[in-house]
Amino acid sequence: MQSIPLGVSSLSSSRLAYGCWRVAGSWNPAEVTPESQAAGRQAIIAAYEAGYTLFDNADIYCHGEAERILGAVLKEVPEMRGRVLIATKGGIRPGGDSQAGAPPRYDFSATHLVSACEQSLMRLGVQTIDLYMLHRPDFLADPEEVARAFSCLKDAGKVRYFGVSNFRPTLLTALQVACPMPFIVHQVEISLARLDAFTDGTLDQCLVERITPMAWSPLAAGLIGDGAKALLPSQKSYRLQGILPVLENIAKSHGADRITVALAWLLKHPARIQPIVGSTNPQRIREAVKAVDLELTREEWYSLLIAARGEPLP
Ligand SMILES: NC(=O)c1ccc[n+]([C@@H]2O[C@H](COP(=O)([O-])OP(=O)(O)OC[C@H]3O[C@@H](n4cnc5c(N)ncnc54)[C@H](OP(=O)(O)O)[C@@H]3O)[C@@H](O)[C@H]2O)c1
Repeated sequence: MQSIPLGVSSLSSSRLAYGCWRVAGSWNPAEVTPESQAAGRQAIIAAYEAGYTLFDNADIYCHGEAERILGAVLKEVPEMRGRVLIATKGGIRPGGDSQAGAPPRYDFSATHLVSACEQSLMRLGVQTIDLYMLHRPDFLADPEEVARAFSCLKDAGKVRYFGVSNFRPTLLTALQVACPMPFIVHQVEISLARLDAFTDGTLDQCLVERITPMAWSPLAAGLIGDGAKALLPSQKSYRLQGILPVLENIAKSHGADRITVALAWLLKHPARIQPIVGSTNPQRIREAVKAVDLELTREEWYSLLIAARGEPLP
């Protein structure tokens, strides 16, 4: 697969990233079975063999189980660690984790970030995380404290580079001003069903500051395919009836499928959006790679944008 540099770093990644959110087969650890763990390992191996070299994860994905499954694959395929980038996130705490009755919350305190990252390292079974991201903005984030936590993790060799996820551009700037290390990625939801990043300043900031935008749920969690199995609450209102026929027509004219065109649509943006493919189906994981070689015309790109907006351009 083609590769791209990540932000201003020395890291180079495959054009598409692979996302491990769904690899445990459930978001509830009580529902994880040896069979679902094995299927998750197979999905990750399929992605590695298909040329994906960035594996995205988070401590809260199935309460650490997704990191454990990726860790198991890294053990099973020892040469993989040297060839791929391991990305994970922290800063979200589930309810009841520290004491009964504690609410779900965000926590960018230095103590929590350092300890969360160390626990991720243990579950992944690696010495260093290549890319560590703040998962969702903590309303109480103190930029100086985040800078202390990041410096501590970097100086100890536990993290190589840092990024953020789901931030407002202004908050990214506020944190970046305090942190001596550049944020190299901003992971946000971008798809034909979720256009905010194009107009809320996120992609403009990525262009100006040379931050790589990573797109989560690039297929609207499956709605752009044959239907979604598991949607986030924020995705339940997505309506794609207007988009699917336009996608289908463009796909037909290229001898491709809707998924390939929807990913190619993201890839065309000059900020070099990196879609994070979240399928756990080995065949779909391999097929998605075709998007990297599909160049849409400006006319096709705008037809899809207009269909996605559901109204004409101003
Ligand atoms: N930073 C954040 O806040 C955040 C939030 C969410 C996700 N993420 C990251 O982004 C990654 C991708 O997110 P995502 O999993 O929502 O991405 P996605 O690629 O939009 O959706 C994947 C889902 O779509 C289904 N799907 C794919 N192709 C399909 C088709 N042709 N027909 C029917 N269903 C199809 C998959 O099912 P199968 O498995 O059966 O193929 C899977 O359930 C995650 O793994 C995670 O790493 C980050």
